[in-house]
Amino acid sequence: MAAHLNSMSDFSSRLITWQKQYGRHDLPWQNTTDPYAIWVSEIMLQQTQVSTVIGYYAKFMQRFPDIATLANATQDEVLQHWSGLGYYSRARNLHHAAQTMMDDFHGQFPQDFAAIQTLSGIGRSTAAAIASFAFNQVQTILDGNVKRVLTRHFAIAGWPSHPKIEKELWLLAESLLPQHEMVAYTQGLMDLGATLCTRNKPQCSTCPLQNTCKAYQKDMVDQFPTPKPRKALPEKNTTMLIFLYGNEVLLEKRPARGIWGGLWSFPETENSSDYMAITQNRFGIVAEDKKPLAVFSHAFTHFKLHITPQPMQVLNKASEVRNAGQIWLSVEDAMSAAIPTPVRKILQTLTKNSA
Ligand code: ADE
Ligand code: SF4
Repeated sequence: MAAHLNSMSDFSSRLITWQKQYGRHDLPWQNTTDPYAIWVSEIMLQQTQVSTVIGYYAKFMQRFPDIATLANATQDEVLQHWSGLGYYSRARNLHHAAQTMMDDFHGQFPQDFAAIQTLSGIGRSTAAAIASFAFNQVQTILDGNVKRVLTRHFAIAGWPSHPKIEKELWLLAESLLPQHEMVAYTQGLMDLGATLCTRNKPQCSTCPLQNTCKAYQKDMVDQFPTPKPRKALPEKNTTMLIFLYGNEVLLEKRPARGIWGGLWSFPETENSSDYMAITQNRFGIVAEDKKPLAVFSHAFTHFKLHITPQPMQVLNKASEVRNAGQIWLSVEDAMSAAIPTPVRKILQTLTKNSA
């Protein structure tokens, strides 16, 4: 690590100077020190691009402007504002953490760095982003973008999320921290990774770190970061039963745990040749199967799901649903409920077909 020392001393000052001139300054969650506003943005940005987050963020902050409002909302409404963003545990954790702040932190966002990390959904890097932006604390972030910048600049081989490499990167990132200007520094790390030191076609020619960048010097930029050793994703199949009665569809609230936890979705079954019988037995609904819609796929982190949408024309809609957690909604109301993206896609197909 001693070999890094020369470049460390001015790594942060060059990044800060660059950020002030060329970085981003007008994102909706900048120019505030409200830890709540910063926290919400950091959670949304964990797995979602800035361009997608911007619209969701405005609506979320309008409906849930502070910790108390979020804590007092129902989970269903929080998920509704997250619908389409994916990785819904982020929304459930956000809601839960707001309630923890009400119960254990006098309704305030905690400032203690260790306390921040006890909140649901806040790991070390997210805690550091919030602590530096909101409280000007000297803590380092280490997200995917920063890992890319560091593995290139210091030519560090090995998959950056391997525990051994990750530990090395945390130490390195800490050693680079400035003692002042944490907002510009943290934002500079993010901005460099997002705008210059990008995964493909990095713009080394305008990079403030170019003259100390090991990968650049060795002409090996495209070899960092080392990719994750990949196993093929397992594949699963499911059939979504789309009960149609006039303009209404039947949705089912998914169990709290597992994929799409707490969201409203179509009832699912294994692929079968007798959906009428399944429907009778399980739902007490007499319905005829129509031509299935085209199979489509949805990728999760750990598997790929192939979905067959199976429309079922309902002949006798019992006046009450048989199970709690089921609801008949007009297609229009279903579209604004807390639904996952594949359900939204199917509903859109239905509106197109009937239009
Ligand atoms: N990604 C994660 N946090 C971010 C931030 N504060 N600004 C821009 N992109 C980000
Ligand atoms: Fe990234 Fe290129 Fe800058 Fe090195 S010189 S940090 S590879 S953009």
